[in-house]
Amino acid sequence: MTAIVEKRILLIIGGGIAAYKALELIRRLRERRYFVRAVLTGAAKEFVTKLSVESLTGSRVYDDLFALTDESGMGHIELSRDADLLVVAPATADLITKLAHGLAGDLASTLLLATDKKILAAPAMNVRMWLHPATQRNCKLLQEDGVSFVGPEEGEMACGEHGPGRMSEPAEILAAVEKVLLRDTRIPLPENLARKEAAGVLAGRRVLVTSGPTHEPFDPVRYIANRSSGKQGHAIAAAAAAAGADVVLISGPVALADPLGVKTLHVETARDMLREVETALPADIFIGVAAVADWHVAKTAHTKIKKNPKQTPCLTLVENPDILAAVGQRSKGRPALVVGFAAESEKLIENAQVKLAAKNCDMIVANDVGEASGVLGGESNKVFILTKEDKESWPTMDKQEVARRLVARLAGMLAGTGR
Ligand code: CTP
Repeated sequence: MTAIVEKRILLIIGGGIAAYKALELIRRLRERRYFVRAVLTGAAKEFVTKLSVESLTGSRVYDDLFALTDESGMGHIELSRDADLLVVAPATADLITKLAHGLAGDLASTLLLATDKKILAAPAMNVRMWLHPATQRNCKLLQEDGVSFVGPEEGEMACGEHGPGRMSEPAEILAAVEKVLLRDTRIPLPENLARKEAAGVLAGRRVLVTSGPTHEPFDPVRYIANRSSGKQGHAIAAAAAAAGADVVLISGPVALADPLGVKTLHVETARDMLREVETALPADIFIGVAAVADWHVAKTAHTKIKKNPKQTPCLTLVENPDILAAVGQRSKGRPALVVGFAAESEKLIENAQVKLAAKNCDMIVANDVGEASGVLGGESNKVFILTKEDKESWPTMDKQEVARRLVARLAGMLAGTGR
């Protein structure tokens, strides 16, 4: 990573237990030679002190909208515009709600509303609060407004619960800061205008994407699943929509928000997924990213299976329909491009080539899902692109970048088919 010298960060620290990680973030930003100015919300002061933040940033900490000295020293407009990037960490449910609805009752929310610079939010809150429809709705609104997000991560939380809601680690936030700064610090165009700009490559095309794992239940409370997070499939659906396509995403159970501008249908099992895919066809491009379970359990119990020391249950598995093969082998209404993914932990290329032919695909995106690769659930991906004529190795990239490149490649191929 090359250091970005003298960029100015305005760090808004919200009131949550994760505020302690903001101190480490400041340290890391300073190590990378960023100039950091910090703002504490009233609640943040319950978790970290002004003195510790001031010592780490080496500059004055702001916390009061009405303090005269703030206005004479540096007005809130100036404070919000002086930075190259505003980082909100932790971004509490309260701060996210205020920003999504344009409330400006305190210094932090006023700065966020008054800025003309990009905002990066690192949410942190209890899992129920994060998954609450109100929070998800607010995050969606903010994404539409061009706010970038890093995290939250899944894991053990300070409150003892488990799930998505943990603030990303300072190193992750730093990486996101650098990415946003490298991209563009302008506030982007409103979503509808941005889509118009990007439109063209897939305008007027219909794209169907499957994503996430499937769950195959064997009683009302238990199921067989896999580690797919849906991040890559959702990123592809979002990238296709950004390129102007009419996108339908059929998603297995994931902890992700529905991508913007994408019609998202939620399913649980492989058989449900196949049904929705068949209903959603025809399409110009089908991209099967889902880690579809290979089997379902022959008999699903209607009541919870009880433990019985004398008899351990034995599950009989039945092969699931292969959705990708069903689409690839359609004699009527086959999409012009059928793209599959191949998740392999050994003999990557060889196995992927077999899938390309067996499922009658136009392209297979092969990735190594061995334990050491960190692909499943991770942020980045290293893929090989296989077509009947060609094979190509792409460098490790984040899943959004893989999605953008893949969409651009498919748009080119589609134009080449003359359909
Ligand atoms: N796929 C599918 N339906 C299935 C199984 C897989 O649509 N029942 C699709 C996946 O979405 C992916 C591709 O087929 O695009 C390859 O999936 P993968 O899990 O790598 O391979 P499988 O065909 O399941 O074979 P195996 O698990 O033996 O490697």
